[in-house]
Amino acid sequence: MAQVVFREATKTFDGVTALDHLDLEARDGELLVLLGPSGCGKTTALRLVAGLEEPDSGEVLIGEQVVNDVEPKDRDVAMVFQSYALYPHLSVRRNVEFPLRQRGVDPAERRRRVAEVTESLGLGDYLDRKPRQLSGGQRQRVALARAIVRSPRAFLMDEPLSNLDAALRLQTRADIVALQQRLGTTTLYVTHDQVEAMTMGHRIAVMDRGALQQVDGPQAIYDHPANAFVARFVGNPGMNLLPLLAVHEGPPAAYGDVPGGTVPLGAPFVTDPALARAAAVVQGASSPSLLAGIRPEHLRLGEDGTIDATVLIVEVLGAEVHVLCTLLDGTSKIVVRQEAAARRPGAGEGVRLVASPGTVHVFTGVSGARVGGSS
Ligand SMILES: Nc1ncnc2c1ncn2[C@@H]1O[C@H](COP(=O)(O)OP(=O)(O)OP(=O)(O)O)[C@@H](O)[C@H]1O
Ligand SMILES: [Mg+2]
Repeated sequence: MAQVVFREATKTFDGVTALDHLDLEARDGELLVLLGPSGCGKTTALRLVAGLEEPDSGEVLIGEQVVNDVEPKDRDVAMVFQSYALYPHLSVRRNVEFPLRQRGVDPAERRRRVAEVTESLGLGDYLDRKPRQLSGGQRQRVALARAIVRSPRAFLMDEPLSNLDAALRLQTRADIVALQQRLGTTTLYVTHDQVEAMTMGHRIAVMDRGALQQVDGPQAIYDHPANAFVARFVGNPGMNLLPLLAVHEGPPAAYGDVPGGTVPLGAPFVTDPALARAAAVVQGASSPSLLAGIRPEHLRLGEDGTIDATVLIVEVLGAEVHVLCTLLDGTSKIVVRQEAAARRPGAGEGVRLVASPGTVHVFTGVSGARVGGSS
């Protein structure tokens, strides 16, 4: 087992920066999820670890060893791809034992390890089938079996579930989590699906345009997003971000102006000096340079509301309802998540919104960085 470390790793392709000074560590035995939108550099990061790409600058370490100059075959990591990448002409058995044959493991030991791994992944009955005779989920399990059969130092998984239907994705997700827990092998798991990231990761590294935005446990990322990008990307729907037009001292606590109303900012300036600084920033700026962030579940409709809004659409999801509204500036949108049992407004209806105290985040509009608010 071993940690996997990126030290200031940078990679560009024809002038496009795929990875920008990435500093990140997957700890020994950890399942670290790399989360971010398409093109943010997730696959590139995995390929650097596998040795399929070389960094322009910086280092990649596996365990204590800098592997920049180590051949891919000598890095002892196993990669699982979205496309499965199985050998179509080989049986399940031969696909799974392939890495063992390559390493010259003797036949009896090969048979033993293939039997053990395929049994544990529920593939015991399919050993003589070809990949085309399997479902997508079964094929992906074969790819997993091939990765784990030789006990590598780390697993690199690149969106392994995205070709599966919803039910199978859920099942295989649980299988991978259980497997990783049992084997305790350091795992870098790439996805752009924030639900997958939240449910699978010991920690999540959120990336955007090649740069690391935040790395922390799933709940910490959700509760304390480091910037506006993370706030919007994590959560379904993501955090509402509204222009914060002014910040007032109170009493009793600070509050801010948003288009069509006000939001409570929780702490008074004395206990949150960042808010006082934010107030100074917004007063000196000619255009709004702060954003108020409010999660959809921290809003409700009510007569006692402090924000006026107009309902655009109501989305019924069964257990919950999403009410999408526009604010009085006509451009800002805000989503309210409510229980299915709550009164549902109609499209076009004027409503008032309440933001729960202590739930409003404040970010700078320019860099998006967190400046205060919320707990
Ligand atoms: N071989 C390559 N040649 C040129 N550009 C590349 C190459 N590989 C990646 N890139 C570029 O580098 C950036 C990062 O790509 P990467 O494949 O790492 O993104 P990703 O986060 O895995 O995206 P996705 O979720 O779509 O798989 C993108 O802008 C991509 O176009
Ligand atoms: Mg990718």
